[in-house]
Amino acid sequence: MGKDFLTIQDLSREEMTALIDRALQIKKEGKRSTGALSGYTLGLIFDKASTRTRVSFETAMFRLGGQTLFLSRAQTQMSRDEAIEDTARVLSRYLDVLAIRTYSQEQVQEMAQWADIPVINALTDKYHPCQVLSDLMTVKEKRGALEDLRVAWIGDGNNVAQSWINAAHVLGFELLLACPAGYHPLPEVLGEKTENIRVVEDPKEAAEDADVINTDVWASMGQEDESARRLADFQGFQVNQSLVAVARQDVLVMHCLPAHRGEEITADVLDGPHSVVFDQAENKMHLHQALLEGLLLGRRSRI
Ligand code: CP
Ligand code: NVA
Repeated sequence: MGKDFLTIQDLSREEMTALIDRALQIKKEGKRSTGALSGYTLGLIFDKASTRTRVSFETAMFRLGGQTLFLSRAQTQMSRDEAIEDTARVLSRYLDVLAIRTYSQEQVQEMAQWADIPVINALTDKYHPCQVLSDLMTVKEKRGALEDLRVAWIGDGNNVAQSWINAAHVLGFELLLACPAGYHPLPEVLGEKTENIRVVEDPKEAAEDADVINTDVWASMGQEDESARRLADFQGFQVNQSLVAVARQDVLVMHCLPAHRGEEITADVLDGPHSVVFDQAENKMHLHQALLEGLLLGRRSRI
């Protein structure tokens, strides 16, 4: 594992497995306080809204005995165009680790390039790697293993979908993405054609015999003015009872949240027996604890 966590591909299969297992162990131990990162400070720069990611990172850091500093761009010189390279070098003198949620992946990469401290991608328009790590933790928690896994992604080929593609490249599980024309993942993320990753246009084809059905909003943060067009374009791509019926009987239904009940997923499925969405939300905290520990204490060197 390198200095930063900017995309899933920053991790090898072994590192990903070890992080997930450590997070499961942290959850099982159930300690509210460890003191492992006492004296350490996590900075948080969030240019987009967040409930889960921000609160779970803050709580994870508190449980580790460290503290957090929420940095609003508007109240720092970042709002007055201070160069990323200067911001990164200055923040590295005060903080021990920095998590950023913003629009451009390149901006997070630039921050990481100039920062001496680990930088974590807390979501960009392109990727949401922390989400997919905790989602894989949830799959392992529920199924016991990540082997022989068939995952269906229904809807937008967005940041979360693209991190799932990265994960399928690293771990090799089968991933079928049903996305309407015009909303496919980026070709550069799909990469070379592989046997385990396919984009189809029929949600039922993707969901057939799936172990996991996963979806997300049709208009992500920053795309609010496209909502009406997207609502029309995504008709037929809803996760509902008839889609769940073609999957395996023990299928897990996942959604990173926030969800729009009645749009990309029906309320009865979101609240139904297959749904693991609130376990996913909880697991973000345990996974972030494992990630902070790994980045700051070099647990990775013992993996
Ligand atoms: N899933 C997720 O990242 O949620 P938030 O936008 O609330 O952080
Ligand atoms: N695709 C969504 C994920 C939110 C956690 C967004 O970017 O808004």
